[in-house]
Amino acid sequence: MENTRINWNAQAIVLAAGQASRFKTKKTKMLFNICGRSMILYPLKVLEDLNLPMTLVLGYQAQEVRNEIEKAGIAKTQFVIQTEQKGTGHAVACSEETWDQEDILILYGDTPLVPKELIRNLLIEHQESKAIISFCSTLVLDPAGYGRVIGYNDGAVRIIEDKDCTEEQRALNRINAGIYVIKKSFLKENIHHIKPSTTSGEIYFTDLINMASDQGLPVHVVNVPYDNVRGINTLQELWSVEQIKRSEFIKHWMLQGVRFELAQSIHIDIDVEIGAGSFIGTGVHLLGKTKLGEENTIGAFSIVENTTTQDDVHIHSHSVVQDSIIENGAHVGPFARLRNNVVIGAHAEIGNFVEIKQTTIGAHTKMKHLAYLGNATVGQNVNIGAGTVLCNYDGEQKHPTVIEDNAFVGSNNTLVAPITIGKDSYTAAGSTITNDVAQDSLAIGRSKQVNKEGYAKKMREKLQKKTSCANDKKALNFLGAVKTTNTEHNEL
Ligand code: UD1
Ligand code: CA
Repeated sequence: MENTRINWNAQAIVLAAGQASRFKTKKTKMLFNICGRSMILYPLKVLEDLNLPMTLVLGYQAQEVRNEIEKAGIAKTQFVIQTEQKGTGHAVACSEETWDQEDILILYGDTPLVPKELIRNLLIEHQESKAIISFCSTLVLDPAGYGRVIGYNDGAVRIIEDKDCTEEQRALNRINAGIYVIKKSFLKENIHHIKPSTTSGEIYFTDLINMASDQGLPVHVVNVPYDNVRGINTLQELWSVEQIKRSEFIKHWMLQGVRFELAQSIHIDIDVEIGAGSFIGTGVHLLGKTKLGEENTIGAFSIVENTTTQDDVHIHSHSVVQDSIIENGAHVGPFARLRNNVVIGAHAEIGNFVEIKQTTIGAHTKMKHLAYLGNATVGQNVNIGAGTVLCNYDGEQKHPTVIEDNAFVGSNNTLVAPITIGKDSYTAAGSTITNDVAQDSLAIGRSKQVNKEGYAKKMREKLQKKTSCANDKKALNFLGAVKTTNTEHNEL
């Protein structure tokens, strides 16, 4: 209902053309991530939620920013280009052809903490106050960089940019938050009459407020909390904003029954969901579209990205799990790596130093130490011994491996794909398996052991004879690794 009210003759213009020189990075600040979402998408999602049509003013890296917005599927968006960045007033003027509503909401792409309620309230107050321009203002301890609001209490409000302030004005703590609603008629009449700043040469949008006050027209100021309107001009400010956003999510999940071991060390993205009763260890990163079930434990310093887990899943410390599904009661890690479409069946156990890629593992299967599996389908109750490696790549193509239910793959096996290890079969430890193994069979793929009785003793005696030779003393100490002559080696 409320959204319908806001739709009455309002549209939004979002400014995002600036070069962001204070970031000192090549990439535009609009594309920097804050808790897993690009900065520019934050205001756009709010406007989309409020059902407001919007125009984006792009310039620096316009194509990249546009691609990001389109990829996110933001609806009701038009794009205009500001080819030269001559200031916020000039940027708004560039969008003139898209003005078709009575009230025009202007906001900046570098202010991502603005909540929906703030915009809704600004629009309502603007419409009720019948002002020509309404804008948001706040008090801040360190106002450096922001425009100062002067005459806040006496009606003739003005905004003076930081660069243009006198010493006395610079000491003021009341700032312009950079969110405005303005009548289209006033905008049209005045936007082309803003004079460039004598200090910076820029055309300031904020001068329109001074012009309205000079003409005796009503300007309405809405007081808002600073944390809602923090602007991001530097990587330092980005860091502060991300801290705020991240703690919002952590506090939210705490109230849903999630225990964080050292909450300030945890990174959590905006789209992450966590089931009640879960424990998130120190330094864990929960990224992308990760969705954890109930009663999960995510061990310290693990990274879990775009992954879905069911209930009672344990991801032990220092594991990296990406694009995977882990079913009820399974254990993964410590020091495991799952990536690129892995499914771990219920109660399966994936241990330390195991890497699994594009593979499905059946329920109750165990694979507890030092192994690599890629492009495989593994059944239920399978045991995969330590040191097993699937040779899935021939340099050009990836080949599949199938390991059927209840198979037992001995330690230190190399299974050369494409290959199938049949149901209930065994492979001997140390085997290189190149041919399919039929159900219920034992496959041995290794050279036969030869024992040379008494040979060690003979070696020792030979070496002892040579003790007079100083250079061979060292060799004696390492019986297992003695140097042999070519003839001796051949005898072995
Ligand atoms: C602006 C306000 C300042 C306010 C602060 C709040 C002006 C003149 N100043 O200052 O009063 O306190 O925001 O955060 O408006 N942009 C363009 N084209 C341009 C210049 C800028 O699209 O030619 C875009 C930028 O990409 C940015 C936004 O406009 O998203 C604001 O520009 P920025 O340079 O960050 O303004 P501030 O100095 O922060
Ligand atoms: Ca800014």
